[in-house]
Amino acid sequence: METLYFSGFGNVRLAADAFGAPDDPAVVMIPSAGQSRAYWHGSAAALARAGRYAICVDLRGHGDSGHAGEGGYRFDAHVGDLRAVLAALPSRAFVVASGMGAIIAIAAAGEVPELCAGLALVDATIWFDRDVTERLQAALARRGGVFESAEAIMQTIAALHPGEPAPVATERLLASFAQGDDGKYRWRGDPKAFDGAGLLEEEARLNAAAAKLNLPVTLIRGALNETISEATIRRLQAVIPGSEIAEIEGAGHYAATDREEEFNAILLDFLERRAPRRPLTYIGGSEPRVLRDALGCFGTGVTVVTSADATGEPLGLTANSFTSVSLDPPLILFSLAKSSANLAAFQQAGRFAVNVLHIGQQPLANRFARRDVARFDDVDWAYRAEGGSPILAGSLASFDCTTYAAHDGGDHVIFIGEVKHAWFEPHRDPLLYFRGKYRRLHFA
Ligand SMILES: Cc1cc2nc3c(=O)[nH]c(=O)nc-3n(C[C@H](O)[C@H](O)[C@H](O)COP(=O)(O)O)c2cc1C
Repeated sequence: METLYFSGFGNVRLAADAFGAPDDPAVVMIPSAGQSRAYWHGSAAALARAGRYAICVDLRGHGDSGHAGEGGYRFDAHVGDLRAVLAALPSRAFVVASGMGAIIAIAAAGEVPELCAGLALVDATIWFDRDVTERLQAALARRGGVFESAEAIMQTIAALHPGEPAPVATERLLASFAQGDDGKYRWRGDPKAFDGAGLLEEEARLNAAAAKLNLPVTLIRGALNETISEATIRRLQAVIPGSEIAEIEGAGHYAATDREEEFNAILLDFLERRAPRRPLTYIGGSEPRVLRDALGCFGTGVTVVTSADATGEPLGLTANSFTSVSLDPPLILFSLAKSSANLAAFQQAGRFAVNVLHIGQQPLANRFARRDVARFDDVDWAYRAEGGSPILAGSLASFDCTTYAAHDGGDHVIFIGEVKHAWFEPHRDPLLYFRGKYRRLHFA
């Protein structure tokens, strides 16, 4: 995670936490009023693992973002902030936003075409009941006060939506508060940030903006969220044709943090379908990257294949193209790129070993894929059989082979080995490789 700062509307400094690689497609995550950017940390980490660059931004007057002067918390200023963040990113970002953040996102995206790649609106509506809005406003303003304990804060937050399950992911919500030397908790932002964005006066503007949204939109809501009725959902779908609705059963306003895994699964599914990272179809002769991504859907283990040159010096590289072939005779294969610096050595040696890595051996996988290191330095290895190849100590399994055949395989050579010795370790978990990243076994 890296903390970034954006220059928002009127030069107010906006704090943000970024997860993942900046080259990946960006997802900007905006919390609701009263919450800090930490609200989105769990989902942002999951998005980063799925190949997205997720940026969680503090609203002005919230968390570590700057405070605004007189009138600086009007709705328009928030909309200007989001526009400024989106404009500062290299690619068109997808926006995930909850509550008030979602309302800001609808205005920003509806009023400026092509500003973002899509919207996930979380527990949000753009039609306000005056009584409910005023009650929420008053309850929010109470957060600006001093709290005796974390429980007192959570009670105040829960009281905002009395008919819903109380939030359980407390640390995400408490991130908006700091505990002082006197043990009491205070809101970390500007108490004036609750003075009111004037949402009730924005309804016509929001209706117009929502009607102009011409991009993938989903509303994700806790099914018990009191502020979003069935009628509201139908209205939203009528105003934004093609928008999707996903519900999390048994959850209220805080589904995104309290039921994070379900929420993340819904969000990732929508992103992959409606804002895919890359084209998802390969046609013979088109961009090979797409084919590589398709092949990456086949999860594998990770091995280091080894052999030795004519002087007995060990050599090897990381490979996941290992496959079992035959039991009788006992055959396995791996394929070696013709561009490999070790191709000639493997062809001449007439033998090789495949070392299957365990979860603790990821450093070896990295090391044996690099060209700028002496790969065997400080690595514990040995020849374990007469005429065999280097065996890495502690591997999950090792197969010591003579070369049975070497076939042409396009830009690779397929080496088939006849297994002469095999050793394995029955207890450890494997290092896995899936969609271009190392993974670990997860038991459901
Ligand atoms: C997870 C993973 C799997 C790999 N699988 C293979 C493979 O099956 N065959 C291959 O030729 N290279 C594979 N590579 C790439 C080589 O390890 C890498 O290009 C290495 O630098 C080649 O070294 P060399 O040219 O010294 O042989 C893989 C790399 C990684 C990280």
